[in-house]
Amino acid sequence: VSSSLSERVDAALRDVQDFPSPGILFKDVTPVLADGQLFGDVIRDLAERRRGSIDLVVGIEARGFILGAALAHELGVGFVPVRKAGKLPGAVLGLTYDLEYGSATVEIHEDAFVGGERVLLVDDVLATGGTAAAACELLEQAGAEVVAFETLVELAFLPGRERLAGREVHSTVVVP
Ligand code: PRP
Repeated sequence: VSSSLSERVDAALRDVQDFPSPGILFKDVTPVLADGQLFGDVIRDLAERRRGSIDLVVGIEARGFILGAALAHELGVGFVPVRKAGKLPGAVLGLTYDLEYGSATVEIHEDAFVGGERVLLVDDVLATGGTAAAACELLEQAGAEVVAFETLVELAFLPGRERLAGREVHSTVVVP
């Protein structure tokens, strides 16, 4: 019996308790990336769902860069990074959002899009949804059309999907 891609990714994820802070169960995707067959199958699955319907892939720092760049290459389209504050060298647009304690800022080059590009946003994990929601808004401010958000892992016990209400969200693995 061959198992589904979702089951294979789920089995490869490593749970790290109390990282990066006490009480947090961190879903580590590095074992998925280290398995060449599985990494390739993940990227091909993402690509088949989006082939012909997007102009650019946007990845969220840091692990969204790994998945996003591989996917962009597979699709033959370009890649654009959404970074944490202060990392991009050119003129940027930024968006600050609330975290449980404090806030965070995501940035994109203000000239990343000419306008109207259909983009797919990619990250490794959807947790509270704060990062993905801010990135979607930022992309729209920068002139792109966000076709969907793709995440390898969705933590369904957190309100990420609600934060992205009205948007297409797809995850390879849903952790209940
Ligand atoms: C993780 C993950 C997402 C974000 C999800 O990144 O890769 O980008 O958190 O959380 P949220 O849905 O609650 O916003 P992290 O903060 O670990 O940053 P890093 O990828 O730069 O290590």
